[in-house]
Amino acid sequence: MGRRSETENNRENTKAAGDRKYTGRDRKKQEKAGGETVLNIKRITAEYVVNPVGITKAPRFSWVLESEERNTRQTGYTLEIALDEAFEQVIYRKCEETDHSIHNKYEDFVMKSLTKYFWRVDVADNHGNHSGFSEPGFFVTGFLDNGEWKAGFITAERETDAGNSKGTWLRKSFEIKGGIDHAYVCATALGLYQLYLDGERVGEDEMTPGWTSYHKHLCYQTYDVTRQLSAGGKHCELRALVGAGYYKGKMGILHLRNNYGDRTAFLCELHIVYRDGSEQVVMTDETWQGADSPVLFAEIYDGEIYDARLEEREAWRPVWPVGFDKNALTAQASGKIAVMEEFPVKRLFTTPAGELVADFGQNMAGWVKLRLRDTKPGEKLEIRCFETLDKDGNVYTDNLRSAKATLTYYCKGAEREECTPHFTYMGFRYAWIVSGPGTVRAEDITAYALYSEMERTGLFRCSNPDLNRLWSNITWSLKSNFFDIPTDCPQRDERLGWTGDAQIFCRTASYIMNTFLFFEKWLIDVAADQTKEGGVPHVVPDIITPNTEQVTDWLLSQGTHSAAAWADVAVLNPWNLYLTFGDTQILIDQYDSMRAWIRFMETHADGVIWNYKLQFGDWVALDAEEGSYLGATPNDLTCTAYYAYSTGIFAKIAGILGKKEDEAYFGALSEKIRAGFAERFFDPMTKGMTVQTQTAHIIALYFGLTPEAYREQTVKELLELLAREDGHLVTGFVGTPYFAHALSQNGHLREAYELLLKEDFPSWLYQVKRGATTVWEHWDGIKPDGSMWSADMNSFNHYAYGSIGEWLVRVAAGIEIDEQNPGYHRAILYPRPGGGLRLVQAAYESQYGTVGCTWSWNQDSNSLTVVYDVPVNAGAELCLDSTFEITESDGLEFTETGDRLTAEAGSGVYRIRAKRR
Ligand code: BGC
Repeated sequence: MGRRSETENNRENTKAAGDRKYTGRDRKKQEKAGGETVLNIKRITAEYVVNPVGITKAPRFSWVLESEERNTRQTGYTLEIALDEAFEQVIYRKCEETDHSIHNKYEDFVMKSLTKYFWRVDVADNHGNHSGFSEPGFFVTGFLDNGEWKAGFITAERETDAGNSKGTWLRKSFEIKGGIDHAYVCATALGLYQLYLDGERVGEDEMTPGWTSYHKHLCYQTYDVTRQLSAGGKHCELRALVGAGYYKGKMGILHLRNNYGDRTAFLCELHIVYRDGSEQVVMTDETWQGADSPVLFAEIYDGEIYDARLEEREAWRPVWPVGFDKNALTAQASGKIAVMEEFPVKRLFTTPAGELVADFGQNMAGWVKLRLRDTKPGEKLEIRCFETLDKDGNVYTDNLRSAKATLTYYCKGAEREECTPHFTYMGFRYAWIVSGPGTVRAEDITAYALYSEMERTGLFRCSNPDLNRLWSNITWSLKSNFFDIPTDCPQRDERLGWTGDAQIFCRTASYIMNTFLFFEKWLIDVAADQTKEGGVPHVVPDIITPNTEQVTDWLLSQGTHSAAAWADVAVLNPWNLYLTFGDTQILIDQYDSMRAWIRFMETHADGVIWNYKLQFGDWVALDAEEGSYLGATPNDLTCTAYYAYSTGIFAKIAGILGKKEDEAYFGALSEKIRAGFAERFFDPMTKGMTVQTQTAHIIALYFGLTPEAYREQTVKELLELLAREDGHLVTGFVGTPYFAHALSQNGHLREAYELLLKEDFPSWLYQVKRGATTVWEHWDGIKPDGSMWSADMNSFNHYAYGSIGEWLVRVAAGIEIDEQNPGYHRAILYPRPGGGLRLVQAAYESQYGTVGCTWSWNQDSNSLTVVYDVPVNAGAELCLDSTFEITESDGLEFTETGDRLTAEAGSGVYRIRAKRR
């Protein structure tokens, strides 16, 4: 249809590119005497990961360079794409004189579906060095066009199964016709699925296809099954176990089932290409068979019931087709949930109440596995997972609310059998063995942490063990809640994509892990679930709004979308991703969604003061009235502050994307809101604020809403409000993330450290001192007297308050992003020693490589050592407070500007020494 073939198009590019040459390349310098190259390619990624399988968009190619020479920049590169690993069949070559080493995209590279491509890159630098070709990487495509899907969804469930959440099998036998060249399988489900080839699991993903707004956006997974198929015999069987999951099981605060449909279904297409070039396709259709499975019940909140006696006793029956619009399908190549970490039992003990409990020493999301010996058919094992013991040391499950979080297993009767769930997960540190066959031994129990696969990018370590524990707790709350979607908590009957939580934690999370693909995927659902007017739901995927007539919940009955700080996720998360990863694509992709959200606020504003139906305000702040979750800061203040902040950022985004009209319009609008905010919330008489809460002052300062003439008094008031609480915060979701910033940005670094290091209630370290291994939802989750906060809202694994993590990195360690040069292309490295710390070490694995800042302070010798690490092909502004005097500058030239000493640096490691003046 007029479309040029892949080879035609690519061949032409190869030829054209091959004719071009670098200029000024000095090959002599390429190798040192020992043959080791001076310029190295450390790693290459396509679409943010190493070797993705199942991509459908032109991949973003990035590479990380290493060099022993300082000030190294890329001057050009040659990138090759081939059909074979030996690069004998190169089908695309790009040769460019450019310093672009990340997110390189070639729209003229034409891909074919279900094809494996190898790629490599060769880089030249400004010193005349040459890396030589990198080790090859590869990527495999999925279906480039959804119209290529031939398979149809099928189900083994009857209409009468609408009310249950059992697991069903679907299967198809087929014959292998010869030597296999390659074979790929694409699959997804309405529900959750596990795929098997001849009894062996395909891939290592769990809980696929995750949770999206299914009818608008359903992910499918692609697997390379060449090895698995080739290793098997002539007769093969493809099988899927399908469970209710988020699609059909009971979910949400409304506890409704069948949120997306009342029958699970499965879709799959296996493509086998034989060595003789012939192709065979095995796909889901009405020739498959279905059966009930030993999974009698499996749901997200309540756990799983499995009867091993039913294994291999299936009564096969025909399957039914299920209609579904395949335009909603999107390929998901990476970032899927997997079993990521394993924990042995730390302590197996009996509580004072006589409960047998296994403690894994770490709160997490995942499941437990039990190995059983010499069982009898029908013997029952029951395990209930939970987060914490009560003050008497007994099992405490009240905070799970209605979630049963229970694994029930009926033995088949064998010398050895293993019990592990399929389609559920729990948030837990402890497992209570409610009943079990024979004696349960510690070595027979293992806990597995499951989370979305992401690269660990950030490190933070310091001389204060409690802060290190806090950092670990933040990381674990991230791991426990980045579960295909950003959940609020992993344990109770909620586990929803609360937008506010994901908004305030995004910057911290994106330092700790490479969150790009995770958020990129979820933001598709944010946009998809926005109301026609641009309103953003409180939870995404939104299973509340479609059921509004059933909302009796006191809070949600007032509204199910568009709360300040929550809905602003639509603008602030793409912005944070852009800053962190330097990828404008996310701004392009989310532009309409962001714009619609700003428009929504504009439409519903009264002048420039915005407020709308249900607001969560400064959620769970301690200055709330007794019995309320809503902090004392009034909604019109939090709403208008966020309205100004998001609109200002959106105007910048419009500018970045060259949308001049929007830039001008929304820029002016944000100025108008700021002026209106000042008029309403600042008092010309006192020169301070009209609202006297910590949060009001924090956001007025951090969001840049404080007119200069009011700054001094506003800061003074904040300090007074802090002193009134004896140096403690009483802030909730809105104020907490920026408290330390508001202080340190306004000349009060000491007070910021004091706030951070408080150990008594309420504080971050209070939880640490109480033995927390994740971040709590409430400052007083467990009160000083050992009693619990009200069980209806008391998660011990909520990342929201973990948003202090970004202050540790950006301020204490001093790794900051330069907005003008995002993605750490030019970092601002400005460590701020304080808090009595002797050492702070932080390193971030950016798209360019490691950005690091480590400082150590010796009070006795009045000496500070700072090691700055700037990756190749990037730069940094290296800073230090001008209360220091530099004694050793490692070849850098520092100049004093304002209250800082600064030096511009290219790549390299710089070690400087300084003393307090
Ligand atoms: C969640 C919070 C969420 C809040 C909003 C709670 O139930 O756990 O983290 O943001 O509701 O009201």
